[in-house]
Amino acid sequence: MSVIKKAIFPIAGLGTRFLPATKSTPKEMLIVLDRPVIEWAVIEAANSGIEEMIFVTSSKKNSIIEHFDRSEILETSLKKKKKIDQIKSIRSQNQLGSFSFVIQDEPKGLGHAVWCARKFIGKDEDFAVILPDDIILSKIPAIKQLMKIHTKTKGGSVLGLEKVPKKDVSKYGVIKIRDKYNNFFSISELVEKPKISKAPSNLTVVGRYLLNSKIFNYLSRQKKGHGNEIQLTDSLVQLIEKPGLYGIEFDGKRFDCGSKLGFIEANVNFGLSDNEIRSSLKGMLKKL
Ligand code: G1P
Repeated sequence: MSVIKKAIFPIAGLGTRFLPATKSTPKEMLIVLDRPVIEWAVIEAANSGIEEMIFVTSSKKNSIIEHFDRSEILETSLKKKKKIDQIKSIRSQNQLGSFSFVIQDEPKGLGHAVWCARKFIGKDEDFAVILPDDIILSKIPAIKQLMKIHTKTKGGSVLGLEKVPKKDVSKYGVIKIRDKYNNFFSISELVEKPKISKAPSNLTVVGRYLLNSKIFNYLSRQKKGHGNEIQLTDSLVQLIEKPGLYGIEFDGKRFDCGSKLGFIEANVNFGLSDNEIRSSLKGMLKKL
């Protein structure tokens, strides 16, 4: 078992669910409250103790790299105007960790995206995978909650889970519980986007994973699955026996920022958690 210090963020996708907004703007750069979706995901990782952020990306998404770099032009101009708070707010991004980038040159699926980052992860190193479409509002960062289960299970792989209405199960990876513990489960089955009638439960995987590096052995041999893509889910199944696959329904609210409704819901909820605009936003919502 190793302490988790690295996170892989698969962000090469085209974001076609959110056109036309994402025609030239990466979906990860859409703004929730006052920062892009991807920054919320990186903040969650940094607040969980993760130090290395590995982006699996595409050359069409350079604005993401720019966002996590310093902007000297902006800093100089703000310095002249003595806007100290604003300087702090634009410097914080590149202090969230170290950043590495690897190109996924073909849209072959989530399993393939994670596999593209294999060279950044050590032989016996456990690591996180964070899908930034899902952003989470919680007291304790969701990844940190998964880390507790990783420690409790002495290095088991851990998935973030959420119960969804039965009609929505076919949008997700769905698990079957083997055993229930205090606040987590061991998993005996995992299916990618099953038909409602074939789903083993309505407990689904949301975009948070802590994985054992053995997954790369399985991913390198993984055949195409659902949607003719290489699915992470299909390789996760092979971790069930050893070192064990677990799941936790973490405390927090998850928003699917890859969809219009989820994105608006995220903005309202993040707005309501912001001291500066909370009461005005409440007033505004009451008037609707
Ligand atoms: C991916 C995974 C799926 C998971 C989902 C969570 O699907 O393949 O198992 O439940 O993320 O958001 P995607 O949403 O990329 O199609």
